[in-house]
Amino acid sequence: MISNNIQIRETNPNDLNDIMTVVKQGFGYDKEAELVAGLLTDHTAEPIVSLLAFCNEEAIGHILFTRARFDSEQEQPMMHILAPLAVKPQYQRQGIGGALIKAGIKLLQEKGSHLVFVLGHKEYYPKYGFISGAENLGYPPPYPIPEKYSDYWMVQPISDKGFDAGKGKIKCADVLNQPEHWRDDESDK
Ligand SMILES: CC(C)(COP(=O)(O)OP(=O)(O)OC[C@H]1O[C@@H](n2cnc3c(N)ncnc32)[C@H](O)[C@@H]1OP(=O)(O)O)[C@@H](O)C(=O)NCCC(=O)NCCS
Repeated sequence: MISNNIQIRETNPNDLNDIMTVVKQGFGYDKEAELVAGLLTDHTAEPIVSLLAFCNEEAIGHILFTRARFDSEQEQPMMHILAPLAVKPQYQRQGIGGALIKAGIKLLQEKGSHLVFVLGHKEYYPKYGFISGAENLGYPPPYPIPEKYSDYWMVQPISDKGFDAGKGKIKCADVLNQPEHWRDDESDK
């Protein structure tokens, strides 16, 4: 495990090249890196949590959490969505992704966030506290997810209020709230 030997810190504007490299290599295509670049300058995404993991000063993993809201006129508790998370291929399956999720959630709690959503691997995120089937818990996603993928839309309560903070359909920051980020379309890559 090299996860004992990594440093994690919040990013700053000088880190953009490192972030782009990590996200492009992690996914193996550019679309997610473009999403990150867009979200980092999207005011509706604030407050964001953007973290880089380093091993011997090499940037090896990145995670981004951006603001989520209810898609209706109602009280708007602080909520976030995790998207995306990437670890360079040669560093995967060594605990880096998990360390980034835990560090990010700690910072979100300090910012007063109540709920974190993610659309992703249903075998992976539950290891870090996410609960599958968020729609059935009262949180429809911004765009419909096919029934066979409903387990991939997950939520995690991270405050004392948790689910009592509210229920409703979720809306993301402008850059993420576009249909192309919510469909499984290989041609977009
Ligand atoms: C998914 C990803 C971020 C995970 O990061 P990581 O540092 O490799 O993950 P960790 O080492 O923290 O994984 C911890 C556990 O999850 C498992 N795991 C890792 N990736 C997984 C995956 N894609 N699906 C299922 N399980 C996975 C590991 O085997 C490990 O399990 P174990 O502790 O029982 O052995 C990384 O593989 C990655 O960047 N993938 C490409 C980009 C991507 O798919 N991002 C997520 C978009 S939703």
